[in-house]
Amino acid sequence: MTAAGALDPGNLALSRKEDFQAFVDAPRRSRPERLSRTTLGGLDERARVAYDRARRQWHANLGPIRTPQLSCLHEDLWDIVDSNQQDGDKAKGAVAVDAFPGLGKTTAVLAFAREFHRREIAEHSAFTAQGHERWPVCRVGLTGNTGMKDLNRAMLEFFGHPGRQTSTAAQLGLQALDCMLLCEVRLLILDDLHFLKWRKTSGIEVSNHLKWIANEFPVTLLKVGVGLSDKGLFSEGETAGDTVLAQTGRRTTRLDMPPFTIDTERGRRHWRQLLLALEQRIVLADAFPGMLADDLSDYLFARSTGHIGSLMTLVNRGCQRAVRTGAERLTRDLLDQVRNDEAAEHARTELEYALHAGKATSRARGARTVS
Ligand SMILES: Nc1ncnc2c1ncn2[C@@H]1O[C@H](COP(=O)(O)OP(=O)(O)O)[C@@H](O)[C@H]1O
Ligand SMILES: [Mg+2]
Repeated sequence: MTAAGALDPGNLALSRKEDFQAFVDAPRRSRPERLSRTTLGGLDERARVAYDRARRQWHANLGPIRTPQLSCLHEDLWDIVDSNQQDGDKAKGAVAVDAFPGLGKTTAVLAFAREFHRREIAEHSAFTAQGHERWPVCRVGLTGNTGMKDLNRAMLEFFGHPGRQTSTAAQLGLQALDCMLLCEVRLLILDDLHFLKWRKTSGIEVSNHLKWIANEFPVTLLKVGVGLSDKGLFSEGETAGDTVLAQTGRRTTRLDMPPFTIDTERGRRHWRQLLLALEQRIVLADAFPGMLADDLSDYLFARSTGHIGSLMTLVNRGCQRAVRTGAERLTRDLLDQVRNDEAAEHARTELEYALHAGKATSRARGARTVS
């Protein structure tokens, strides 16, 4: 695998510390220069192929953009993680980022993990006082139907410590604890936690296990997933006597990752800023200021319903098509031919109707308008 290949997010499962290190160290991609149509036409075939390949890669990786949602999440995470640095055996506050898919949870959390890792290494060096590698962050992404034992094994695998096949869930858990103590892990991220197998017994067992981690591991536990609160994971224990859940609830701070909305002026401003940031990154010969933020604002909102995942998919695919077909700009006609994910398409029809009927707009006041 080439160095560039190893950094390709498509190849990076980020399930091992080496992958995580590569992610942390990856330099920012550099944006291909924007060439005019004339210069583009003057390129010989080899240069043109190379230029288009560079643009394909660039457009496929436009993020992360510092959206208000991402900034806000980062500020909250810094508050919590830093206030958790108290000594001794005090249980650390846990965090749950609970929101629907495609709202940028993983992206924002990883960007935070990267900054946190860098800061800790810069301040405390890459090795612990005892000479072990320092790993400020341990990150585990769960996949379909993970049991408690698989979760413990996945934590061990992050450290390249596979754990014995014969070990019980508890033994694996203790080994994982050992690794985290030796490597002085401070932040444990469990992404897509909704994949953890929940028994019919209202998740008491799961909840206990996470509580055990939060109590025994000297880390800030960062749970990321969809519908975690519905699973009773950190509700304040509505049912009397449900003390286990109640305790998990009290120590967990819930953070949200909302979609963009256009029903307030502030919301429309944020949407516009996102489109402005995005259009600056687009490398097409006929792109122009306002291509997204003025001309396509309503259209893009209708098609994505404010979900950044859908927006990025649409713009990425649109740019690929614009390069391939020679259109070299994004227009409504071109984007109409680009397919987006199902959920976004479903919400689209209704919203488009409202936008057309003049009942709603995604445009901020005072924004330029292009007739
Ligand atoms: N801040 C951002 N800037 C640019 N793209 C983003 C941003 N947040 C999310 N995305 C894009 O949206 C898609 C979904 O994001 P992801 O973080 O996987 O969401 P979630 O974990 O909530 O399902 C990804 O393809 C990602 O590239
Ligand atoms: Mg995710």
